[in-house]
Amino acid sequence: MGPDPVDAQRRAAAEQAVARVQQGMVLGFGTGRAAARALEALAHRQRTEGLSIRGIPSSRATEERARTLALPLTTLEAHPELDATIDGADEVDPSCHLLKGGGGALLREKVLAAASHRLLIVVESAKLVPHLGATRGVPLEVLPFAAPACVRHLRSMGGTPQLRCGPGGAPAVNENGNWVLDCTFERHVFEDPAALDRGLRSIPGILETGLFWSFRPIVFAGAPEGVRTLGA
Ligand code: 5RP
Repeated sequence: MGPDPVDAQRRAAAEQAVARVQQGMVLGFGTGRAAARALEALAHRQRTEGLSIRGIPSSRATEERARTLALPLTTLEAHPELDATIDGADEVDPSCHLLKGGGGALLREKVLAAASHRLLIVVESAKLVPHLGATRGVPLEVLPFAAPACVRHLRSMGGTPQLRCGPGGAPAVNENGNWVLDCTFERHVFEDPAALDRGLRSIPGILETGLFWSFRPIVFAGAPEGVRTLGA
């Protein structure tokens, strides 16, 4: 089997994002395949250029990957303010609003993004969409106790929520001990992502949404013809 062309797009985009990282920076490390390519690019710069950085992982998988790559880790206790977070995304709209949470780490990812001066997003070109919600539902992290009530509220606001389940069919529990609902809405609902986010967060038991609309990220989008840089 030859190299995966989509992964090659992620890798090229990750290298350009990581080229923005400077000596001594403290970083948030996102979750998923693109974030993993970014960790590899950081480890490469560490080995070849002596780049010295520290990172705060957004998930156990990312923490393990960073440890394997010998990337130094730190905590929000030590560094409540970060230079940048490098992460992936599930969708990027033309205004660089993001949909995230495909890997279930949305709350921790949003905490790191909000603590960071800069958000660097690495995607393959298939993630560039005309509007949020074009390819999937909005991931919502919910308190398991509240999930049935959240489902009722979401239906009453026109959403179609689906509980994310693991391979055995039981609800997938994320690292905060919470569940994820993926909720689709009609297209017009996404015209104002801020209002949608506000509405969703007003439902008791919804702890975070995958709508990352306020961050002004720099997006590095890998494509067969090269990497496009979008946003701030
Ligand atoms: C995890 C995320 C990921 O960044 C998103 O799902 C993209 O993942 P990948 O790079 O594997 O496509 O938000 O919660």
